[in-house]
This record gives sequence, structure tokens and C-alpha cells, in this order.
Amino acid sequence: MSNQNPTAIASFFLILTNVALVLSKSTIEPCSNSDNCNALLGYTLYTDLKVSEVGSLFNVDPVSVLTVNAIDISYPDVENHILPSQLFLKIPVTCSCVDGIRKSVSTHYKTRPSDTLASIANQVYSGLVSADQLREANGIQDPDVLDVGVSLLVPLPCTCFNGTDNSLPAVYLSYVVKEVDTLAGIAARYRTTLTDLMNVNAMGSTAIKAADILAVPLPACAANFPRYASDHALIVPNGSYAITASHCVQCSCGPGNQNLYCMPASLAVSCSSMQCRNSNLMLGNVSMQQSSAGCNVTSCGYGGFVNGTIITTLSTSLQPRCPGPQQFPPLIAPPSSVIRDLASAPAPAPESDGAGSTTPKSSLVPSTGSLPGVPPASGPSGSISDASSLMNSLPTFPMAFILCSFVKFMMSISF
Ligand SMILES: *[C@@H]1O[C@H](CO)[C@@H](O)[C@H](O)[C@H]1NC(C)=O
Ligand SMILES: *[C@@H]1O[C@H](CO)[C@@H](O)[C@H](O)[C@H]1NC(C)=O
Ligand SMILES: *[C@@H]1O[C@H](CO)[C@@H](O)[C@H](O)[C@H]1NC(C)=O
Ligand SMILES: *[C@@H]1O[C@H](CO)[C@@H](O)[C@H](O)[C@H]1NC(C)=O
Ligand SMILES: *[C@@H]1O[C@H](CO)[C@@H](O)[C@H](O)[C@H]1NC(C)=O
Repeated sequence: MSNQNPTAIASFFLILTNVALVLSKSTIEPCSNSDNCNALLGYTLYTDLKVSEVGSLFNVDPVSVLTVNAIDISYPDVENHILPSQLFLKIPVTCSCVDGIRKSVSTHYKTRPSDTLASIANQVYSGLVSADQLREANGIQDPDVLDVGVSLLVPLPCTCFNGTDNSLPAVYLSYVVKEVDTLAGIAARYRTTLTDLMNVNAMGSTAIKAADILAVPLPACAANFPRYASDHALIVPNGSYAITASHCVQCSCGPGNQNLYCMPASLAVSCSSMQCRNSNLMLGNVSMQQSSAGCNVTSCGYGGFVNGTIITTLSTSLQPRCPGPQQFPPLIAPPSSVIRDLASAPAPAPESDGAGSTTPKSSLVPSTGSLPGVPPASGPSGSISDASSLMNSLPTFPMAFILCSFVKFMMSISF
């Protein structure tokens, strides 16, 4: 026991050193249960990458990367489509609870010649992780000596906040602040309010700086499947799609309402039956009968993926008026060039919101993390430029982090 103390004390000072180096802030969400949830990362491509390469960079299904960005998957050979450098994409990730903090821990990166921790952090992963977090998560003693072909854990920031924002279903995007960003601009871009962003991120002022990581709530359609369904945590951002049930079922959200709408996927491989029992309706079908009492609406909906079986649910309701045809979020063709980034245009200030007050959900403090996944794609690596964040001043030393470090310190002593 006593000979562990020097290590513990050393790690305490290591943590302190990290605070001095990692000055960009990141919103962290404390968690207590082991439930995974779904979240999004805001990722900017550092080079031209195939859709499949983006998928393997984050250890996620490439098709789900396309659908969450409302990119049409019906293009031939779409997984080999080359996406352009600097394209901004949302990446769907599983958000776990590790050491009491939400983080995504399913990504691995295989080092290549001329990689540095800084180039992996700032370029390959576009600032979603820091060189220090990589070093700490992988126990790297000497960051200047990076072997080639080593699999590094890449801890990535994510939050879920119970899948809600102001009591409405929401999915959270981890957004890396760019030099040109303002909080008002980000709020406008993602159709939220300054107040909401400040509440979610526990901010005392609207000041942000490059490399900070914000949690941005996006309105979404949440599944209401039984817990034993493997996709019970399915949540689809407004204006996009998700693919589930082994690529058999496609669900969409919006634009008319925020109800999840699911139907057979166009790339359906070999799927279990999608017909509702005791009816001739298929998944997604709605039949209507106008009567003097109103409109009798019968629909065959999706109830989750259970033990490899697609659950369908038949429901009937009497509505005053027959609903119009299902509306779908518009799809875009797989991008081949980068359209001018909205973030770099001067953003209009959003109107003050009527959302009322909510309590802060989190603390904005430096975070660290770790864990496993899959090897990445090809593509060059080069020099890095973002050393500036290491030299910023340290105006507000987060008290929560000091406490957290102290707890860590105490724990490292006792174990
Ligand atoms: C999480 O959200 C559900 C509804 O989606 C609600 O019933 C539950 O109380 C919430 N839990 C917490 C801890 O906020
Ligand atoms: C969902 O997105 C559509 C545009 O695609 C927008 O008109 C609508 O207001 C959005 N709904 C919510 C709840 O944000
Ligand atoms: C039922 O759904 C199937 C599959 O989506 C579709 O091909 C068919 O046209 C639908 N039928 C009706 C009556 O809506
Ligand atoms: C509505 O339609 C369903 C199936 O078509 C039928 O079983 C049910 O009796 C109808 N309900 C009314 C109130 O007409
Ligand atoms: C799924 O299958 C396993 C065994 O194959 C069974 O124990 C379990 O009850 C099934 N789950 C459901 C929800 O049917």
C-alpha cells in the first residue's frame, strides 16, 4: 500500500499538468448506470475519404453515417463514394458510461508513419480528442516516440442527457468550436437558443473559443421499443434517417411531425417478415376509412428488433381527419465537393427564446477518457498547426475539476 503512494501522488501531479495543458473545455455528463445511449460527433474530414473509411475511422456502420446526414444510400456502390476533405459530417456513436462519465469508447486508431499524437488528435479526429487524452488513455510515456502500427484507443466526447432537452426528445451533437464560431451562430445553425446552449453546457457567459467542445441538442424522434429490443435506444435527429434491424428497416424523423416513421429499407437484404399479424398491411403501411364518425386509421408500425426478429405492431385510431401522405426528410446526393460552410458565414442572432429556465445539466470541464474499436482508413498525414490551444491563458480554473481530480487522487491512493 505505502509504496503505491508515490505513484498516486505522481498521477495527481500528472492530472494537474494536464489541466495546465488542456485548456479547451468540454462538456461532460456524469452518469451512474451502465446503459449505453446514442449520440453524435461533429466531424470535419481531414482528407478525401471513402464513406467506408469514415465508418472504420469511428468503428461505425458506414450506412448509418450516410442516413444520419440524410445522404441518399440508393446510389450504386455508395460505400465506396469518396467524400471531400473538409466536409462536415455527423457521426452516430454509442455513448457509454465509463468511470462515472459519458464517453464514447469504441474507437481505435492504428498509427501510421509520420503520425504524432497531435496530428491524430487535431487532424484525423478533427479536435474531438486531444493529444493529452490520447497519451493518457494509452499510457504513453514518451509522446515523441510513437510506434507505427500500434492500435490506440481514441476516447471521444459524447452526452445524452436522458435523450431529452426541455422534456422533448433530443440527441446531442459533440461540436468542436472553430475559430470563426460564435455561440449565437451555433445556436442559429442548429435551430436552438443561446439560453438552451448555455444551460446544457453549464456556461456562465456566451464566450467560447476554438477547440472547446459543446453539447448541442438536436430535436429528434425517439423510439418507444421495449427494453429487450436490441435497438431500443434508437433516436433519429429531425430531418434525417436511421437504418436498423440488420439493414432491414429504415426510420425517418420529420419534417411534419416528430414521430418516428419506419418502413422496409430499400437495401433490404434477407429480412424476417415485415407484415403485421392478422392484416395485409406491411411495415409502414397505413390504411384509412372515412366514416361519419371520422377517419378510421389503421397502421402497421415498427416495434423494435428482438432476437433477430422484426416486431410489428398494428394500431387503429379514430381521427377527426384522415392524415395526408407520409412526408420524408429530403435526401441529398453523396457530396463530392464542400458547400460553403454555414459556420463561416456571419450568423444571425437568434431571437430570445421562450423556453423558460432549465437547470444546468452538466459542468464544463476538461475531460479525459479511453477504450477500444477498429483500424482506420488510408490517407496522408501531415504537419499540424493547432498548437495554439496549448498556450491559451487559464482564466477560469474549473472548481469541479479540482474536486474531481482530488477524488481521483483519493481513489488512486486507496486502490
Ligand atoms: C428520462 O426520460 C424519461 C422519458 O423519456 C423520463 O420518464 C425519466 O424520468 C427521465 N429520467 C431522468 C433521470 O430524467
Ligand atoms: C424539423 O426540420 C424541419 C426542416 O427539415 C423544420 O421545418 C422543423 O421545424 C424541424 N422541427 C423541429 C421540431 O425542430
Ligand atoms: C405497403 O408497404 C409496402 C412496402 O413499403 C409498399 O410497397 C406498398 O405500396 C404499401 N401498400 C400500401 C397500400 O400502402
Ligand atoms: C376501423 O378499421 C378496423 C380495420 O379496418 C376495423 O376492425 C374497426 O372496426 C374499424 N373501427 C371503426 C370505429 O370503424
Ligand atoms: C431471445 O432468445 C433467448 C434465447 O434464444 C431467450 O432466452 C430470450 O427470452 C429471447 N428474448 C425475447 C425478448 O424473446
